[in-house]
Amino acid sequence: MIIAIDGPSGAGKSTVAKAVAKKLGFSCLDTGAMYRAVAWQAVQDGIGLDDNEALGALALAKDIAFGHTAGDPIPKRVFIGGIEVTDAIRTAAIDKAVSPVSAAPAVREALVAQQQRIGEAGDYVVEGRDIGTVVFPDAALKVFLTATDEERAHRRVRQNVDRSIGSFDYDEVLADLLRRDEHDSARATSPLCAAADAVVFDSTGRYIEEVIDEICAMARERMQK
Ligand code: DC
Repeated sequence: MIIAIDGPSGAGKSTVAKAVAKKLGFSCLDTGAMYRAVAWQAVQDGIGLDDNEALGALALAKDIAFGHTAGDPIPKRVFIGGIEVTDAIRTAAIDKAVSPVSAAPAVREALVAQQQRIGEAGDYVVEGRDIGTVVFPDAALKVFLTATDEERAHRRVRQNVDRSIGSFDYDEVLADLLRRDEHDSARATSPLCAAADAVVFDSTGRYIEEVIDEICAMARERMQK
């Protein structure tokens, strides 16, 4: 069974996806990390971020893998071509590079195929931008998670401070979120949008645990059908 969680940057998708997966005993797939890993490798290799063909070849050639830390069923480590990039893909430089990379149709084609192969292997909570619309259009439950721009920026700053990665500056983080939203929503291939049959959650001012419990309740209902 697939639970799709889509939405803009900083809406709380990762927190919700991991918690829902843990509660339901599902695996979890962070598709944003896959686009980030390809962007990281492209920067390392000096590939032009507008070179669709070279980026697509890179996405096909390099193996992306997820790893667990001992005792934690939810994967938190990311590897590309055998190199760990868990922290390296969360820098402000990759926040910027990932927009053009994720807009490249050849990259999307390669990564969507990988995501479908992974998800078909079991019960997954899959988070991204196009999961309910393109990757798993038949997902048993589709959630579109949103929050106001200000709340998303505050959350992202807190997350960066906790991880000691990326920018701690609210204005810079807000500007980057808005730039990425615009990019993700306006691109020609698989733009960010809610699937027609998605349940829309606005998490602004809500306890995230409440949102997690509601999603789990909906998922359990659908599992019984
Ligand atoms: O969720 P995130 O912020 O880590 O995602 C990084 C970038 O990848 C984001 O700018 C949008 C893009 N992305 C995408 O285009 N499609 C997905 N399924 C997941 C992420």
